[in-house]
Amino acid sequence: EKGGYDHFMLKEIYEQPRAILDTYRGRLRADQGIIKMAGIDEHLEKFMNANRIIIVACGTSWHAGLVAEYIFEDLARVPVEVEYASEFRYRNPVITNKDVLIAISQSGETADTLAAIKLAKEKGAFVFGVCNVVGSSIARETDAGAYTHAGPEIGVASTKAFTTQITVLTLIALKLAKEKGEFSESKFHEFLTELETIPAKVEKALESNPLVEIISDVYKDATNCLYLGRGYNFPVALEGALKLKEISYIHAEGYPAAEMKHGPIALIDDQMPVFVIATKKGHYEKVVSNIQEIKSRKGKIIAIVTEGDEQVTELADHVIEVPETLESLSPLLTTIPLQLLSYHIAVMRGCNVDQPRNLAKSVTVE
Ligand code: M6R
Repeated sequence: EKGGYDHFMLKEIYEQPRAILDTYRGRLRADQGIIKMAGIDEHLEKFMNANRIIIVACGTSWHAGLVAEYIFEDLARVPVEVEYASEFRYRNPVITNKDVLIAISQSGETADTLAAIKLAKEKGAFVFGVCNVVGSSIARETDAGAYTHAGPEIGVASTKAFTTQITVLTLIALKLAKEKGEFSESKFHEFLTELETIPAKVEKALESNPLVEIISDVYKDATNCLYLGRGYNFPVALEGALKLKEISYIHAEGYPAAEMKHGPIALIDDQMPVFVIATKKGHYEKVVSNIQEIKSRKGKIIAIVTEGDEQVTELADHVIEVPETLESLSPLLTTIPLQLLSYHIAVMRGCNVDQPRNLAKSVTVE
């Protein structure tokens, strides 16, 4: 049932090219220049008239929500707020019938996310679900939704759910951008065709696996790690840190690279591995100077870079290449080596990768 892999997590990491394809198959029609999604088409005016979109989720799904915030605001020019479901529901939030709430949940059973949905519905918001499990509580409780079609995710560490959630949310953002006239036909077409190259590019990113395994061996005994990114790749840094924490039990923190100088840089010494997402299109020069700041304090730099990179490659202790893509689609690629890294480190430390201590696949308690 693990398809020849040692763990479900590794199997699910490798399923991502296929899972992403399954997520946009039938929805993305690049040749006709359209995106078809019944859940959006039927409620288009709700989205078009929304004052703002509120995204609620927990854990990895919340990180997908953060990526979506960048995509929705950048492409569709809709204001977005992303909230932990648990905080949202208990803080007497201001919600009106002009709000659209998107709840993201792989399992569709997360108690806090479900409660946040009920609250938003009571206050008159239109509630849209992005779930993986068909017929789950959240899928049933929402006014409309879109499934991720990732297939069953068994490993407690969420991997393919994350990339397919981002895929669905990207489709929605692109659709709204088009409807709102934010995009020319040619720009829209460029996005659609680039999205169609993502499964092959994820496949390419997975080829970094042997190198990631070697790097994992170097850092497997670390007691603390930092993950840094900017813009679209800031949430990827958070997600990289969460993956490492939950399955290898190494303390890790994700940070926006520019925030280093406001505190965390004090932690840097020659024992501190710093994983930096430094792809070409995401504020590259700024990230390069952040890397220099870390280097001069003797931190170890492991950078995720765009194929053919030279500048960061000169500075970093290790680089892992991913294919080039549009900045807004880059999280789908940069997250892959970070998933592999946490996987290998956990295996090397003898941890129970698929069932980490103290964790459940779906958190149905509050
Ligand atoms: O099923 P959900 O997407 O609602 O689950 C949310 C979180 O519990 C989940 O993403 C958790 O953080 C994962 N273990 C992360 O890998």
